[in-house]
Amino acid sequence: MRTLRDLGDLQGKRVLVRVDFNVPLDEAGNVTDDTRIRGTLATLENLRAQGARLILVSHLGRPKGHDPKYSTAPVAQRLSELLGTPVKLAPAVVGDEVTRLAGELKDGEILMLENVRFEAGETKNDAELSAALAALADVYVNDAFGASHRAHSSTVGVAALLPHAAGLLLEREVDTLSAVIENPKRPMIAILGGSKVSDKIKVIERFLGIADELLIGGAMGFPFLAAQGHQVANSLCADEDIELAKSLLKAAETSKGELKLPVDLVAADRFSADATPVAVDGVDVPEGMMGLDIGPKTAAEYAAAIAAAGTIFWNGPMGAFEMEPFAAGTKAVAEAMAAASGTTVVGGGDSGAAVEKFDLAEKMDHVSTGGGAALELIEGKTLPGIEVLS
Ligand code: 3PG
Repeated sequence: MRTLRDLGDLQGKRVLVRVDFNVPLDEAGNVTDDTRIRGTLATLENLRAQGARLILVSHLGRPKGHDPKYSTAPVAQRLSELLGTPVKLAPAVVGDEVTRLAGELKDGEILMLENVRFEAGETKNDAELSAALAALADVYVNDAFGASHRAHSSTVGVAALLPHAAGLLLEREVDTLSAVIENPKRPMIAILGGSKVSDKIKVIERFLGIADELLIGGAMGFPFLAAQGHQVANSLCADEDIELAKSLLKAAETSKGELKLPVDLVAADRFSADATPVAVDGVDVPEGMMGLDIGPKTAAEYAAAIAAAGTIFWNGPMGAFEMEPFAAGTKAVAEAMAAASGTTVVGGGDSGAAVEKFDLAEKMDHVSTGGGAALELIEGKTLPGIEVLS
C-alpha cells in the first residue's frame, strides 16, 4: 500500500482527499460524534504543512440524489473548528463552479465538496464521475478507512486515475487491525456482541481459528443459548441464527479458540429505558421477558479474561447500552479494556460509540473509525479501496 511518504513534493499540488465524515447528526444538523473527523486531522495537517491545496470528498448518510438534509455543510463547519482554519464548501460535487473553486485554492487552503452520494454515479463507481473527480486534482489520498470496503467512484474509480496513497488514518487502521489477526500478543481474546450472529458469522469463524478465547455477549448470545436448549423467551433470536449458532458450537469443539457464553443475564418485560431490570442467575430467560444485558458474573468473568490477555479485540455491545438500566455489561467490558495492560483494539460501530459514551476512547490503544470495513478486514476480505492503493 502506497503511503503519504511515497508521494514526493506536494507543494502547490491539488490533493483530493477521500475522508469518511459519515458521522451522526442531531435534529438541528449538529455533529454529535466527531471521532471520524478528528481521525483525519493528522493527515490534513501533514498535507497542509507540505503546502498542498486540499479538496475533501466524503459521503454522509445514504441520500437518494441531491437532498439538503445530507449536505456536508455541518461536517465542513466542524472540521473548520477543529483545524482553526476556514473550510470552504463547494455547492456541488463536480461541475464548473467546483472546478473554479478548486482552481482558486492557495497552498494550505481547504475546499470540501458536497456529499458525493448526491451523484448517482458514486455508488456505481461510474467512470464519468471518477474522471470528473480526478480532473479536480493532481494527487489522490484515501483516508476514509470506514468507506474502504465500498467500490465507489470516490474510493476506487478516482484512485486509479491519479497518483495515489493511503492517508495516515487509513494506514494506522490497516496496520493495527492486520496485527490483531496476523501477529497478536497472546493470549489473544476477541469479544463479540451486537444483535445478529448472521452479521458476524465470518468474523466469529475467523476468531475461532485465531483467538485463544472468544467471548460472546449482546443479543448475539441468545441463538447460542437457544442452540444449547435454554429458554430465550422474547429475546431477539432469529431461527436462522440458531442454525448458525449450532454449527459454530460444533466448530468450536475442535477449534483453537474456546467459545465462551454468558453465565447470567439481565432481563426485562420490554425493550424500554423505563423497564425494570431483572437479574437472572443462569441463562434461561423467564417467560414473557427478554434478555437485554449480560449479568454481573459474566461481566466479571469477561473482565478477568481481558485483564489476563496480551491482545483484546472487541466488536459489538454486550447489551442495550443506550438504555441506562442495561448498560452495565457493556460498561464493564469497556472499563476492563481501559485498565488492561494488553493491546486493546475496539472495532468501530456500536462498540466505538460505547467507548465514546463512557468517555474511555482515549484509554484504548485503537478505536477503529470503520464499522463494516473493520469487520471485513478482520474476516480476511480484500477491501477494494485499499487494494487500489498498491
Ligand atoms: C459507515 O458508516 O460504516 C461508512 O461510512 C460506510 O457507510 P455506508 O454503509 O453507507 O457505505
